[in-house]
Amino acid sequence: ADHKAGVSKLGFKAIGKSLADKVVVADGYTYTIIYALGDPLNASTPAYKNDGTDTDYENRAGDHHDGMEWFGLSGDGKPSWTATERGLLGMNHEATTDSKLSSFFLHADGGKMSLPRPASEVDKELAIHGVSVVEVRKARGSKWAYVPASPFNFRLTTQTELEIAGPARGDAQLVTKYSPDALRARGTLNNCGTGRTPWGTLLTGEENWNGYFARAKGDDAARGNDKSVFALKRYGRAEGSASRHGWESAGNEDKYVRWSNNKTGTSADGSDDYRNEMNTFGYVVEIDPYDRTKKAKKRTALGRFAHESAAFGKVAAGQPLTVYMGDDARNEYIYKFVSNANWNPADANAADRLAVGAKYLDDGKLFVARFNADGTGEWLELNTSNPALAGYSAYRFANQADICINTRIAGDAAGATKMDRPEWCAVHPVTGEVYYTLTNNNNRSVNPSGTSQLAPDSANPRAYTDVKDTATLQSGNPNGHILRIRDDGNNRLSWDVYLFGAEAGAPRSINLSGLTPDQDFSSPDGIAFSQATGICWIQTDDSAYTDVSNCMLLAATPGKVGDGEKKTLSYKKADGSTLSVDTFVGAQATDKTLKRFLVGPVDCEITGLCETPDGKALFINIQHPGETTSPANIADPAKYTSQWPANAGYGPGKRPRSATIVITKKDGGRIGS
Ligand code: FEO
Ligand code: CA
Ligand code: CA
Ligand code: CA
Repeated sequence: ADHKAGVSKLGFKAIGKSLADKVVVADGYTYTIIYALGDPLNASTPAYKNDGTDTDYENRAGDHHDGMEWFGLSGDGKPSWTATERGLLGMNHEATTDSKLSSFFLHADGGKMSLPRPASEVDKELAIHGVSVVEVRKARGSKWAYVPASPFNFRLTTQTELEIAGPARGDAQLVTKYSPDALRARGTLNNCGTGRTPWGTLLTGEENWNGYFARAKGDDAARGNDKSVFALKRYGRAEGSASRHGWESAGNEDKYVRWSNNKTGTSADGSDDYRNEMNTFGYVVEIDPYDRTKKAKKRTALGRFAHESAAFGKVAAGQPLTVYMGDDARNEYIYKFVSNANWNPADANAADRLAVGAKYLDDGKLFVARFNADGTGEWLELNTSNPALAGYSAYRFANQADICINTRIAGDAAGATKMDRPEWCAVHPVTGEVYYTLTNNNNRSVNPSGTSQLAPDSANPRAYTDVKDTATLQSGNPNGHILRIRDDGNNRLSWDVYLFGAEAGAPRSINLSGLTPDQDFSSPDGIAFSQATGICWIQTDDSAYTDVSNCMLLAATPGKVGDGEKKTLSYKKADGSTLSVDTFVGAQATDKTLKRFLVGPVDCEITGLCETPDGKALFINIQHPGETTSPANIADPAKYTSQWPANAGYGPGKRPRSATIVITKKDGGRIGS
């Protein structure tokens, strides 16, 4: 799907902000809700009742639809790169709307919000996480719909067996009771961003998996305070940590107890307890969407962190493949993986797609990014022959498997730049430049304190302290920005900031991109380029500006690195001195280059984006409408903060549901152009 036509102009009128509990889309467009939480994936699963009594989520759409990719199907059901009216959506089900342990909309009475959690509730919660692959079709002359009884439909959940691939396959740190040979892993979790490989498979990033594990006080000593304790702390699981849902409390079966990541056995290797369970999460997982019988692979060569999307750089025959990735946590890093194998275009249509995945994704080099104040930067290779890693005294890396499992520590050792929460990345189809959303960071401060706060730097240059222009303005960098990288293909890069999120009415010292009311946004998260139009789609997951607008989808036609100017931001520090930060701001947004296209219902995030190859159908996800509803109001739908999609005619029940929508142009044209 090479992009040849250049970038389309934005051919629609921008829409205003919205607080309505509905999807608002630009004039000339329409949308259809096609696939929501609980929808059955086969003919034998009962219709969704949406009243908290439904079960059997292994055979239904999961919750919190997130990253999503299109995989075309020909009329006779074969993989197709060109099909436009029949295909599969490979989709993440990241998480669940919860409060005090319980995923309350899934349980009739809101569920039990204290420990121990009932097994009947936990079984549902275990099954609503993961991935779904679902067939969608546009019948001739009619609307898009999903195909409830398609034999292509399937789910992966927290319980599905996967295979460990790459350098960490068989490594001692992945030995579990479930797989003493460390070749298999159970489940995928908190799947957030996605990617689509040039050979037609789905990549899904495991993001906030660490929060699902509990650790008991005393486990550090039980482990002999060995280096696993250092690693667990670096990944946010100090002993005594509680888990998000208390799943470990639901019974004595492995499927519950495994969520306590403790050394309780006497084996040398962890084959009789759960000490290594958490090490089996945090990877990019590759799934063959066309073949539900193939076991998905955890591609450990791409590192272990809070993965978001996995975006391929421009693909060229005879050249290595590059995959760009981000680690979404405050002050974490930007990464890339470069295959050792050179791309063979015949692999695009190979029959054994996961074997192609092994060729390109199990064997290669992993890099982390450092950004300099002069607009340049370096990709630092993460391997044991990098002197910075070899000489790192805080943690001794045993081998490449250790680097692939404890990648954040390797990034620390290498001296990478700590970023404002790298969410999705995407590659411009014409320039090949890489766009990273840095969603926000409340740990960026002009007067940093403690070990977790950082002063602003050139690539993360904003930290608000004394500006209070709205009631919701938070400290740090609440509105986020979009960083842009030109990669020289080796170890060097140059960068600028394409856009700064801001309220249109904010002072120019904050609204650095000059956003107007038709295009202002906060907390960019999803980002994807259309291969059909070249349009850059930007999605928000905001909490700083939601008093003014629900989350949104914007369309943009960016230029390239260096099209703007150098700026120096000045901050007054608490001691009266001035902190000056040089940064590089891309060309100012204009009413032609950035427009708001869609706004979602109350409390949602707009996420996941894919299209048919003709650019005439655009699929996005509406994640967690109504998520700030108080569980105390579970019996009174009038008090839900959102009743979407029921209030848009997609019933039954009134409980809000994450859902996929498809956007089409009323005149049948390409979306956004
Ligand atoms: Fe799941 Fe960082 O978004
Ligand atoms: Ca995200
Ligand atoms: Ca987010
Ligand atoms: Ca979300």
